[in-house]
Amino acid sequence: MSASVPGYEKVTPADMESGELRGVRLQSGVRVCVGRSGSEYFAVCEECPHSGFPLSNGTLLDGGVLECGWHGARFAIADGAVLAGPAREPVKRFRVVVEDGFVFVGDSSGS
Ligand code: FES
Repeated sequence: MSASVPGYEKVTPADMESGELRGVRLQSGVRVCVGRSGSEYFAVCEECPHSGFPLSNGTLLDGGVLECGWHGARFAIADGAVLAGPAREPVKRFRVVVEDGFVFVGDSSGS
């Protein structure tokens, strides 16, 4: 029987390497960038707040910094804050849990 987590949606196997990014689509149609930094999984809005480039096509740098692949904006995955422009708005984060070998994404954490 496959695991389920109330309030969360199973999106991808938890088989990612540290530094890997993966674009997924929730049942609602919302696109999310799931990533792994060290042992931690995270999820942010797939669309860069600057001009909408898919953040899963960016680069996850050391120290939990996500760099957009188009114009190089940088975000802190811990809270979504902008670390380098041209983006001005933080990237929205989503709640994440890992259960039974899968990554589950919940609602927005508000940041
Ligand atoms: S679209 Fe991401 S920095 Fe411009």
